[in-house]
Formats: sequence, C-alpha cells, structure tokens
Amino acid sequence: MDAQITELFQPVHTLIGKGSINEIPRYISSIGVKKALIITDEGLCKIGTPKKITDVLEKNGCIYEVYSKVQPNPTVAIVNDAVSYFKEKGCDYIIAIGGGSPIDVAKAVSILSANGGKIEDYAGYDRSQRAGSPIIAINTTAGTGSEVTRAYVVTDELRKVKMLMVDGNCLAFLAINDPELMVGMPHSLTASTGMDALTHAIEAYVATGSNPYTDSLAIGAIKLVGDALRTAVRVGSDIKARTDMCWAEYMAGYAFSNAGLGIVHAIAHQLGGYYHTPHGVANAILLPHCMEFNRPYCMERMGHIAMALGTDITGMSADDASKAAVQAVQQLSHDINIPYLTSTKFNLNDVEILAENALKDASMPTNPVQPTKEQIVEVLVKAYSDGLVRNIIESV
Ligand SMILES: [Fe+2]
Repeated sequence: MDAQITELFQPVHTLIGKGSINEIPRYISSIGVKKALIITDEGLCKIGTPKKITDVLEKNGCIYEVYSKVQPNPTVAIVNDAVSYFKEKGCDYIIAIGGGSPIDVAKAVSILSANGGKIEDYAGYDRSQRAGSPIIAINTTAGTGSEVTRAYVVTDELRKVKMLMVDGNCLAFLAINDPELMVGMPHSLTASTGMDALTHAIEAYVATGSNPYTDSLAIGAIKLVGDALRTAVRVGSDIKARTDMCWAEYMAGYAFSNAGLGIVHAIAHQLGGYYHTPHGVANAILLPHCMEFNRPYCMERMGHIAMALGTDITGMSADDASKAAVQAVQQLSHDINIPYLTSTKFNLNDVEILAENALKDASMPTNPVQPTKEQIVEVLVKAYSDGLVRNIIESV
C-alpha cells in the first residue's frame, strides 16, 4: 500500500459498559453461525465467569462447547489442542472469555481453522490469506487490549520464544468490555494488567507508526490509567474506576494495534518466553527503564505523557519534563505494588540471549530508536540493579 495511506484496524462491533454480555445473542444471530467453541481458562471457570455468559447463551438457545485448558503465556501445544477440539466438535465460531491468553488462543484457532497449516507459519505480519472464523472476544481484565487488536502471541516452548502474529484476519467480530466481569479480579492482577494497558498507550504514543488518531487515543488512555488505576486496585468493586479502566485498555489497545509497540514489549516477550513472567508484570518492571532509554529520542512526547499522568510541567525544560514522565510511572508502579525484577525468575546470566531475541521481536521496529544488543543488556541490568537497591531500602 502507498506509504501515505493509513489503514486502521478495529473489531467490527464493540460494546463497553455494565451489562454488555446480555447483548451477545443478537450479534450471534446476525452472522448466522451455529455452534460456538468457548475458549477460556480453569481459573475463570472456578470463579464462575464463563457461566455468566453461558447462562445468557442458554436462555437464547445458542449452543456451545467449552475448551478451558488455556494457560498463561499459551503455547503451540495448547493452540494445536484447541484447534483439534474446535474441528472435532463441529464448531464454526469462537467465544473467547478471559484476559490476553484465552483471546490470543481464540485468534490462533480462528486463523488456523480457516487457513490450515501450523501456527509458526503465521508469525510476523499478515501471513494468512482468508478471514478467520468469527470471534466474540469477552475481556475479563483491563489490560491486554487483545479483544480490540489484530495481534496475538503464542509461546514456542522448544525455542523458548514468544511469537508475535499481527494479522487483520483475526480481528474480533464483537469485542466486549463489561466492567461487572472485572470486579472480582485480584489486586495484583488489576495492577499488572492496568500497567500493561499503560505500556500499550505509552509505546503507541512514541511509536514510529503513530498518527493523529492513535495519538489522541493513547494520551486519553494514559490520562484514564493515571486517574483510575490506583482506585481500581484498592477498591475492586468501584464500577466507575473499572469502567474507566475498560475505556483506557480499549483505547490503548486500539492505539497500539494501529501505531505499533516498542522496546518494552520486545523485551517483556522474552521474559515471558524464558521465565513465564506474567506479561503485565514484565512490562511494568521494564517500562520506566525503557522510557529512560527512549527519552532522548522523543523528549517532547515524554513531556505530554508526564502531563497526562498529572504532572504540571509548566516552566520545566523538555529534559526535566521527560524525566517527570519516568518518575510518574515509577510512582504509579510503587503505589500499586508492582514487584521488582529481582522478585521474578530472571537470571542475569541469560541477558545476552534475551537481548538477541528482543532485537528480533516484531514489536521492536516501531520503537523511536533501534537499540543495540548491548543497550538492551544495559536496560535489563539497570532494572535488576534497581530491584536490588529497592529491596535493600525496604529491608532497613
Ligand atoms: Fe501488552
């Protein structure tokens, strides 16, 4: 396509707000599908989230099967198992219920069921030929943005890398953000998924693929996270804060799906692939250190981020305003108890291979500057040292 033309990607339909799940049946009848495969995980089944949706389906005569074996950081093996189940049960569309992992598996099943082959064939940009099987993506966390994006991640357990697929053929037919599904989310999950949303917005705002539309969504999302995340973590039943985080994560998801990501996600994918570090935790730990690295290349925009997070930058130099953005993110992480890199399974001996793989990650090309391997190693060492220092401070 001509470089001067911007193509925008989004779900066909979106519902945001309390009670949205009750509207699902009319969208199902509009596309004439017959049998759903619900893709979810055991943790959500235990707390009864999928039942809230199956009650709606049953009341309206919609038939379905359930696949609930999805794990965090889903693997090629899980994807293959889910695709086999989809075919064996004669399903023709997917209802994904969950955070990023079930929705990512749903996108992989959608593409593979319509295009054949194996998931490794689709790593990278727009590798499929045909539209995937329809997806209704019901988000249960306010972070990944997976219900809105054309991106999904699958872990190749043999190579210990996360493959990123970016494909317009896997966009949801219907995306749902119902804050009532999120009120029971544990504090730590609310915090880490909220920081994932913030990372999407910040990376999209400084990405080389940004445009005026994604800029407005990204800055709006940053402001919403700054205003609502602390309350959503502290008072999980606060529907206003939960609804604001739904908007923030959706807007941030839209922004990064169209503008691209950057160095934070490129490194975070490696921490997930190597140590199964939860995605939001990895992003939250890396975010201030990567902002510090990027700062000289997008100083003015960093100042806008500081303002969106509530810092008055009047009278500050561009350098100080950009530093204030980093400090505001550090303060937010501290306030919501994000762990340090030293509390994860990260091993300093792996930094070389982690950096090499991060350079190859599909999130990296839209970072404002392309780092060297040594610079990525430096970011990881700084994040680790920061954890050590903070542990010492907290122990005295
Ligand atoms: Fe993310």
